[in-house]
Amino acid sequence: MTENKNVPPTTTDAGIRVQSDEHSLTVGPDGPIVLNDHYLLEQMANFNRERIPERQPHAKGSGAFGTFETTQDVSQYTKAQIFQPGAKCDVAMRFSTVAGERGSPDTWRDPRGFSVKMYTEEGIFDMVGNNTPIFFIRDPMKFQHFIRSQKRRADNNMRDHDMQWDFWTLSPESAHQVTYLMGDRGIPRTWREMNGYSSHTYSLINADGEKFWVKFHFHTDQGDGNAYLSQDEADKLAGTDGDFHRRDLFDAISKGDHPSWTLKWQIMPYEDAKTYDINPFDLTKVWPHDDYPLIEVGKLTLNQNPTDFHTQIEQLAFEPNNMVPGVGLSPDKMLLARGFSYADAHRARLGVNYKQIPVNTPKSPVHSYSKDGAGRTVPVTDPVYAPNSYGGPAAQPEPGGEAGLWHADGDMVRQAYTLRPKDDDWTQAGILVREVMDNDARERFVGNVAGHLADGVSEKVLVRAFEYWRNVDLEIGDRIEIAVRETIGGESKAAGMASAQSISG
Ligand code: HEM
Repeated sequence: MTENKNVPPTTTDAGIRVQSDEHSLTVGPDGPIVLNDHYLLEQMANFNRERIPERQPHAKGSGAFGTFETTQDVSQYTKAQIFQPGAKCDVAMRFSTVAGERGSPDTWRDPRGFSVKMYTEEGIFDMVGNNTPIFFIRDPMKFQHFIRSQKRRADNNMRDHDMQWDFWTLSPESAHQVTYLMGDRGIPRTWREMNGYSSHTYSLINADGEKFWVKFHFHTDQGDGNAYLSQDEADKLAGTDGDFHRRDLFDAISKGDHPSWTLKWQIMPYEDAKTYDINPFDLTKVWPHDDYPLIEVGKLTLNQNPTDFHTQIEQLAFEPNNMVPGVGLSPDKMLLARGFSYADAHRARLGVNYKQIPVNTPKSPVHSYSKDGAGRTVPVTDPVYAPNSYGGPAAQPEPGGEAGLWHADGDMVRQAYTLRPKDDDWTQAGILVREVMDNDARERFVGNVAGHLADGVSEKVLVRAFEYWRNVDLEIGDRIEIAVRETIGGESKAAGMASAQSISG
C-alpha cells in the first residue's frame, strides 16, 4: 500500500477517489468479485481498448518536437508566411521504417520516413518525405501492390524476398530506388544523421503570382548524410536492440544534443518543366544539381522529446494535402494520390475528428464548417451552414490558392506521363552506382544485393533480377550474379509461391 501522502489520490476517470490500487472488491477475502467494483471494470475495459490500429505502412517509428526558422530570403519564390525571412514556427517530426510492424526492429533495411509538421500562422504545412530523393514507382495504382509485396505473404504470414524481387523486377521503374535501398541509405546509422527529401516536385507561387517548381532537401547538420550501418551490424542490433534508432534520438535530445537539418530547395522555373529532358514530375527521377542547384532556405531543430508516445507520436497524423498558400501540389500523380490517401487513413485509424487530437491541431485559428462526429471535443457554434447571413465564416479566395497552379487538359488515358528523351528507368540508377558510390560503397552494395537475392528468391525471379541489374550496369549485374551463384551453389531451389488458384475451380 502506498504510504506517501504527498502524491495525489488515485481517482476513476470520473475523478472519484478510489479505495484501493491493489485489491478488487469481493464478498469476504475468499469470496467472488462483485459487479459494482466499477474501478476494476474501468481498468479492465480501458486496458482492452489501449491499442489503436497501427499505420498501414510506416508503422514503426518515433519522433520529437522543435522549431523551423527561415534563415534566408526566398520570398522571390513563395509568398508563404513561413518562408519569409526570419519566420519561425513549432514543428513535430516523425521518423519511421516502411514495411515493418509497430514492434519491428529499427535496423531492418528499408527507406526511412522523414515527416515534418509545421504549425504555421497560416495553418498546418506537412512535408511527408523519405530519406531518399526518389521512390519505387511513378503511378499510385501500384502503391498498394508495392507495399503488400514488401510486407507479409498470405499463407505463412512471413516476409519473403521472392515476393519483393518479383514485384521490383516486374517494375523496372523501381531500379533507382532499389539501388538506394541496397546501398548505404538502406540502413542509416541514426535518424539524426540522415537527410530528408520531399522526393516529389511541389509548386511555389510568390506575391506577384509567379510560379516555380521545387524539391525540398533537408540536409542533416550531423555529418554528411551518408552515415550507415553495415548489414552485419544492423542484423546484430535487430536482435539486441530493436529500438536502436528510437533510443538514439530520445537520448540525444534528453542530453541537450539537439539535432538539426538545413532546408535547401531546388528551384525549376515554371516554363522549364514543359521542355526539360526528364519529366520533372516523375517521382523515380532526381533533378541533376548541375541543372538545378540547391539554395539554402532555413533550419529545422529538434529540441523536445514526447512525454506521452501514444498521444503525441502514435496519434500524430501527417497529410501531404496540408499546404499553406504559396506552396502547392504538382502534376506528380503519386503526390496527387497521396493528397487523398493520408486523410482517409487518419479517419480510419484515428476517427473523423483526428485534427482535434492536440498534436494535430493547428496553432492558428480554425473556422471550419465540420460538425459533430465521434470524438468531437471542440464545440460547434451557429450558424452551421454557408452561405449564411449570421456572421459565419466566409471563404476568401486569393491568388495562389489551389486553383490556377498549372494548366491541364487532354483525353482520359491510363498512362504515367509522356516520355521525354532521358526518361528511361536505368540511367539514373547506373549513375548512382558508377559515379556516386565509391569502390567500398559499391562492394557493400553488391554484397547487400547478393545477400538478399541468395535468401529465398526462386530461379525464375533470380534470372530476371540479374537482367535488371545488368540494365543498371553491366559489370555490377555480372558481379551480383557471380556472388549469388557462389552462395547458393548453382540454381536456386527456393520455391517462390504456388500459382494462384482459379476461384472458379
Ligand atoms: C505513411 C500512403 C507514397 C512517405 C503512409 C500511410 C499511408 C500512405 C496510407 C499511413 C498514414 C497513417 O496511417 O498515418 C501512401 C500512398 C502513396 C505513398 C497512397 C503513393 C501513392 C509515399 C511517398 C513517400 C511517403 C512517395 C515519401 C516521399 C510516407 C511517410 C509515412 C507514410 C514518411 C509515415 C508518416 C508518419 O510518420 O506518420 N503513406 N504513401 N509515402 N508515407 Fe506514404
